[in-house]
Amino acid sequence: MSQPRPSAQRLVDHVDRLGAEHPPIALDSVDFTVIDPVTLEARFGHVLDYMARVELEVDRNVLELMTMLPDPPEVDVHFYRDVWQPQEIQHGRILDELQVRLGRDNANADLDSIGTKLKVLGALGHLGAFQDVSRMLYYVTGMATERSAVLAYNLLHDGVAEMGETAVAQTIIAPIRRQEPGHYAFYQLSARLLWSELAAWQKWLVRHLRRLSFSPVGANDDEQKADFGDLMATLGIDDDSDFTAQIARVEMELLWARDKGLPVPEYVTRAFREARELSVARAAGDSSAGR
Ligand SMILES: [Fe+2]
Ligand SMILES: [Fe+2]
Repeated sequence: MSQPRPSAQRLVDHVDRLGAEHPPIALDSVDFTVIDPVTLEARFGHVLDYMARVELEVDRNVLELMTMLPDPPEVDVHFYRDVWQPQEIQHGRILDELQVRLGRDNANADLDSIGTKLKVLGALGHLGAFQDVSRMLYYVTGMATERSAVLAYNLLHDGVAEMGETAVAQTIIAPIRRQEPGHYAFYQLSARLLWSELAAWQKWLVRHLRRLSFSPVGANDDEQKADFGDLMATLGIDDDSDFTAQIARVEMELLWARDKGLPVPEYVTRAFREARELSVARAAGDSSAGR
């Protein structure tokens, strides 16, 4: 076996370390005590629901991956099968349990539908050069997703702690939040490594497909975009805030280094703005329908 290059070895070590140091959160480590369930539900119920759904949909994400990347590198399989999926599914179960205890329904997670776009990428993926394009899109999406999760959990943690719901903040949100940066680091290392190997036409295609396909984490249709807009409003996230700059920082650096001046790719700002607009329009529609 040939010796992996130093940075590739770093990636393998990172995944091994994540697996060893971050086992899935045990259910019996969680304290579901809530002092004021009515207020917690009214304020953050929909945020818990959104995050629970996104986390539980990890099972569909794994199917998507297997469709999109028919021949993935070993370290990717090791990451998503042994580290990422077991951690994320547990995040989803715990958040979902919390929202049920607050009197809400379980999250409506889509666990198995694979879009046509991904099937096309998967078919093209049998040609190695195209699979590298899909892989790059997967890493870039992973970076934005995981960074979004950390930032959203930061805001949720502070909001819940401020309400005096210490058990939820300390034994649910904080331990979940702690596992997200390791996921982000995996995607970032992978993205940097692969980007340096891509040919100019592959980079062009990645930029093009990314611009066409970007959406905020977990927002796959207008309803879910409006849900994300609601989450932005509750957590105080703006379409031109630090939030978008942080989720797109490395993407900006890698994909759009030539476009100096813009802090955030225009498609990111646009997608966040659209989510807020859909959320506002839905709320206006709901209130006029109620009149
Ligand atoms: Fe998670
Ligand atoms: Fe994650």
